Amino acid sequence: MTGTVGTGTALLEVDQVAKSYGALDVLTAVDLTVPTGQALGIVGPNGAGKSTLLSVINGTEKASAGTVRFGGRDVTAVGPADRARAGMGRTFQIPRPFTHLTVFENALAGAEFGAGLHGHAADLRALEALEMADMLDVANTPAGTLPLLKRKRLELARALATDPQLLLLDEIAGGLTEAECDSLIATIRSLHREGITIIWIEHVVKALLAVVERLVCLASGVIVADGAPDEVMRSDEVRKVYLGGGM
Ligand SMILES: Nc1ncnc2c1ncn2[C@@H]1O[C@H](COP(=O)(O)OP(=O)(O)O)[C@@H](O)[C@H]1O
Ligand SMILES: [Mg+2]
Repeated sequence: MTGTVGTGTALLEVDQVAKSYGALDVLTAVDLTVPTGQALGIVGPNGAGKSTLLSVINGTEKASAGTVRFGGRDVTAVGPADRARAGMGRTFQIPRPFTHLTVFENALAGAEFGAGLHGHAADLRALEALEMADMLDVANTPAGTLPLLKRKRLELARALATDPQLLLLDEIAGGLTEAECDSLIATIRSLHREGITIIWIEHVVKALLAVVERLVCLASGVIVADGAPDEVMRSDEVRKVYLGGGM
């Protein structure tokens, strides 16, 4: 199943990507084409390979086979720092802030190391990222003391500080109250409206469905459904996956 949704040019093309760790095949022949500007959701049980797929896309992990193209360029052999500079930003399922630094300093690190900016340009980019993530009010707070929603938003700000064309989100909505989740949804929707292409892995399906226009289900390293979100959620493939394993 390749990209059948969307009419824009492809920003990301994942072609026959596989990833194994020794004898463990985590991803098998994954094809995924994401047009510029699309918001794509990914669901699937624990251990399906969702985070690994994001890692192979942003270069944190190398694909065992297949190719990854970004903006028409083959980046399969390109490392994560260069992919970040090419326009990929990512949040991690387990947040990795510099806890002893302030929120602003964390965003600045994203702007400097992720986007390759320096001095005033880096400062401006960090502030812009904090504004987009609704974090300006806590800019001078040490990252280690933030409550959960703000920790999630910091993870988002750090990814935005790299000035991404493609934003990869890994389970950013888990553990939030309903109201907190709604506020995060509003933020991600506004990023989508600004034209950022988004791939969002999320167990909080309600949050996904409020934003994405396309949904993919990954199970045991294989894409088993790909299409309009409501149709994918109602599909036999997805029912089978969740009846079999739970989320
Ligand atoms: N670095 C690694 N070494 C060995 N196995 C790994 C590694 N990373 C992930 N895995 C395994 O790959 C499978 C998929 O993991 P993951 O991509 O984190 O799934 P998901 O995000 O869908 O829950 C799991 O069985 C996990 O244990
Ligand atoms: Mg995961």
